[in-house]
Amino acid sequence: MSRGKKVFFVAIGVIAGFILSAWLGWVVLPLRTLEAAHPQVPRPLVIAHRGASHWAPEETRPAYELARDLGADYLEMDVHLTRDGVVVVMHDDTPERTTNAVQVFPGREKQDLSEFTLDELKQLDVGSWFNRKYPDRARKGYAGQKILTAAEVLDIAGAKGGKYPVYIETKSADHYPGIEEKLVAVLREKGWLGASHDGLPSVIFQSFYADSLVKLKELAPETPRVYLVQSDVVKKEGGWRATVARAAQIGTGIGPVGTLCWPWNVGPAHRHGLVVHAYTLNEIWQYRLMTWFGVDGCFTDRCDLLMGYYGKPSAKSAAAILDGLGY
Ligand code: G3P
Ligand code: CA
Repeated sequence: MSRGKKVFFVAIGVIAGFILSAWLGWVVLPLRTLEAAHPQVPRPLVIAHRGASHWAPEETRPAYELARDLGADYLEMDVHLTRDGVVVVMHDDTPERTTNAVQVFPGREKQDLSEFTLDELKQLDVGSWFNRKYPDRARKGYAGQKILTAAEVLDIAGAKGGKYPVYIETKSADHYPGIEEKLVAVLREKGWLGASHDGLPSVIFQSFYADSLVKLKELAPETPRVYLVQSDVVKKEGGWRATVARAAQIGTGIGPVGTLCWPWNVGPAHRHGLVVHAYTLNEIWQYRLMTWFGVDGCFTDRCDLLMGYYGKPSAKSAAAILDGLGY
């Protein structure tokens, strides 16, 4: 072998060795620390983002019933407070995108949910937009669905017995003073706090608002809390290390947007004993990458797809379950 070739192969060996050691150091060893730190939040988790929202209108009864019956680990929801103080479930701050508010309350469709009473919000159709946007997945039973309260989602989660796990985001928490107290009261009344189901805590809290998680820590210290982060949160906290330290101070985990889930970010989070749940991933190649980078679970619109990827496929297809549910 010529000297040039030998140098080439030695260089390749050194680079491969460096990559392997970096992967072991950043990903594998921190995962061992995590096993000891958080046995109460097993991994990997399938978090049904806004319910099974690929197949049914997000944050509606069919989306949650489907995610539950597929067997996702967690039903994810975003909560808001109505003008009359009821905790309701919707992603956006206003009803414009996912309801017919423009017809029912013309001129009010861009108003915050906090400006509507529950009775007003219950007059809206939260399903027909999906049928128009996704005709290939449309179903008659989606039309006319009503906005759900958090208590109603718990009833769906508990309908088959047990306290099926929910992963609740205090969305725009700064708009809703007192939402944490109201939410905890609903969960306590329904018996969800401190409960578990198939080895998983029945409730995990999540928020982009650190202050909201601090309040939830005071109100329900036993419930795991995940600090959601994207680039602006990391910037505000003063960098990744500071963000991880903050997440460890107020909670149990960190929920970064997928593009922040590099191994050199996941590793420090694990070394702080935090679980890492990435959002929102809907493709197999993304699940593969997240697994390689060491994340402990993903928020996904395709809970059926992620369950298959993690080797725990649902016994029935989404279509068969929706047919059985009568949608
Ligand atoms: O809750 C995790 C993820 O859902 C955050 O993004 O906007 O879908 O609530 P968003
Ligand atoms: Ca959310």
